[in-house]
Amino acid sequence: MEMIQESDIKLLFSEQDIQSKIKEIANTINTTYGKDSLYVISVLKGSVMFTVDLVKHLKMPVRMEFIRLSSYGSNYTSSGKVNAVDITLPDLNGKNVLIVEDIIDTGHTAKFLLDFIKLNFKTKSLRFCSLLDKKEKRQVDIDADIYGFDIDDKFLVGYGLDFEEYYRNIPYIGYV
Ligand code: IMP
Ligand code: MG
Repeated sequence: MEMIQESDIKLLFSEQDIQSKIKEIANTINTTYGKDSLYVISVLKGSVMFTVDLVKHLKMPVRMEFIRLSSYGSNYTSSGKVNAVDITLPDLNGKNVLIVEDIIDTGHTAKFLLDFIKLNFKTKSLRFCSLLDKKEKRQVDIDADIYGFDIDDKFLVGYGLDFEEYYRNIPYIGYV
């Protein structure tokens, strides 16, 4: 598949849009957990930018874990098959667990991860936080507990989201 020119990327959410939405999301999280400590589980690679910006605004004691899943093949559509590249986790029994994702699309990744954690641990709480939510594309019955932006069925790049592994470093979110 051909490279996208950066000039072909149309702005959807600016750096400012993203940062002010993240502050709102952080406020919700701070209100939800209060002073209770929290395990943030970041799903790499897509949620790297969102995670680091989000945790800076959290007020409770936070521990961070990173796992790597992949679902997209090298095209625009989700394969529906989730590949656990690295899902090494500490003991999450009795812990508040917040999964942090870039985007929920078909929902297969979210379902896989929630099922995996429920099967292996008795957490104190388990919630799912996603910056973006593509509700139209959902194939499984899953909803984020906390999310930032609702989006239509567009293929997005930037701020962690890739096209063939490129464009994750673009500071805004755009579509092609
Ligand atoms: P799901 O399993 O279909 O919900 O897909 C979730 C994963 O697919 C996300 O964590 C992203 O990494 C990737 N993804 C979904 N939509 C897009 C997009 O528009 N651009 C880039 N990656 C996407
Ligand atoms: Mg992702």
